[in-house]
Amino acid sequence: MELPTEVELVREVERLQDELSRREREAAGKERQLERYAADLRETFKEERARTQQLTRSYAATVRALSNAVEARDAYTGRHAERVAAYGIEIGRVLGMDGLDRPEIEFGFLLHDIGKVAVPDAILYKPGRLTGEERALMARHPEVGAEILAGIEFLADAAKVVRCHHERWDGTGYPDGLAGEEIPLVARVFAVADVIDALTTDRPYRLGLPLDEARAMISQASGAHFDPDVVAAFESITDERLRQIGREA
Ligand SMILES: [Fe+2]
Repeated sequence: MELPTEVELVREVERLQDELSRREREAAGKERQLERYAADLRETFKEERARTQQLTRSYAATVRALSNAVEARDAYTGRHAERVAAYGIEIGRVLGMDGLDRPEIEFGFLLHDIGKVAVPDAILYKPGRLTGEERALMARHPEVGAEILAGIEFLADAAKVVRCHHERWDGTGYPDGLAGEEIPLVARVFAVADVIDALTTDRPYRLGLPLDEARAMISQASGAHFDPDVVAAFESITDERLRQIGREA
């Protein structure tokens, strides 16, 4: 076999060097292109996140406006829905409930009584006892509320609380007479949060109960009105924390 001459060897080395630098240029070009893609993606992601946050804020503002509209009719309850939402979220946290970071859970708490818009003032504000027919109409507010929210995708979870917020653990609630874990957890949490606030706030016809009396009543209804696990979670929250939540909401 004939060995290459020195000139041929030098040419071959030069050719290889050219090839190498060509490939390096190509690689550098590709790397720059990839960096541009990455920067574009980061930018798009940032914009998308800002849009999502803005949308979530708009949703939350809309839900709050709706909730305030419902509460404006029921003047004496003040910021009942907001406080119930805050108590409910705290109980959910103790229970390790999934999805607490999503606003949908709070939306359900805030809108629980939205169906009352269909209850005439004469019944809503009637000072005396309601007749059977009036009670039946009043008792329709969970279903009416769920119907109002039906078809609003971002309120699908909220609609569960709205429909089930008067169900009771022992199956004696309404509208569906669900019992135990048939009742969505979020509605079982709501039930306790609702009663904490109802018992501890002043009404025109009575003062709010001291916290220890309200606690005793809730503990007593564990396993009947309320899910025992939810009551246990509530019991583990300190008085100080409950007062703080009540004040902040
Ligand atoms: Fe209600």
